[in-house]
Order: sequence, then C-alpha cells, then structure tokens
Amino acid sequence: MVTKEELIKELNGDIAYEFSAAIQYVQHAATLTGGEFQSINAELLVHVNEEIGHANVLSEQVAYLGGVPTMEVAERHTDSDSRKMLEQDLEGERIAIKRYRERIEQAQELKLYGLENALKQILADEEEHERDIMEALGM
Ligand SMILES: [Fe+2]
Ligand SMILES: [Fe+2]
Repeated sequence: MVTKEELIKELNGDIAYEFSAAIQYVQHAATLTGGEFQSINAELLVHVNEEIGHANVLSEQVAYLGGVPTMEVAERHTDSDSRKMLEQDLEGERIAIKRYRERIEQAQELKLYGLENALKQILADEEEHERDIMEALGM
C-alpha cells in the first residue's frame, strides 16, 4: 500500500508533467503547419489552459496533504514535422492517463475521496485530449 509521502511525491511528478504538457502545447500550437491541422490548433490552446488548471488543482491537493507543490517541469518534446508533434502530444496524453489511473487507485487506498474525485475529473479531461489528437491524426 502507498504511503502519504509516496503519494505526495507521485502527485508532484504529475504536476511536473502538467507544466511540461502546457509548455509543449503552447509551442506546438504556434508552430503547427498544414491545412489539415488548422482545426486542432485552437483545440491545443484549450488544452494549454486545461493542463494549467490540472497543475493548479494538484498543487492545492499536495499542499492539503502537507507537501510542498513542485515547480519542476518534466521533459518537453517538439519536432519540425507537424504530424510528429501531434504524435508527441498523443504520447504525453497516454502517459498522463496511465499515471492518473494509478493515482486514483492510490487515493482510494488511502481513503482520500476528495482527491479521488479531483483525479477522476482530470482523467476525463486527459481522455478527451487523447480523442482530440487522435481525431486530428485521422486515427
Ligand atoms: Fe492535464
Ligand atoms: Fe492533457
């Protein structure tokens, strides 16, 4: 079973991923080219704000648990090819979905139901992000 300290550490890892996702989306939205990717551009800017919102919610939860919310940023990825950029974004969303599924189980183990609810809302957003990008890639 996960300890509260381990959970705080994992949540801080999630926050670092959220910051990196937001930064990556800002850069990708500004540099994506090609008519077929026109409609996803506006969507990526919506994702930016949602990822920052997730970092905000998670930071509040870390502080509530007695931890110090991180300001670290995980690795960012970009490419000169628009399709590759979207594939990088898709990979990031899938990592997030995997991480939040684990985190929800850990919150349940520790009976942190408020955190569980917050994580489920974030997970639903990440699943929507995944669908948006898959659609843009014609998957
Ligand atoms: Fe997110
Ligand atoms: Fe996302």
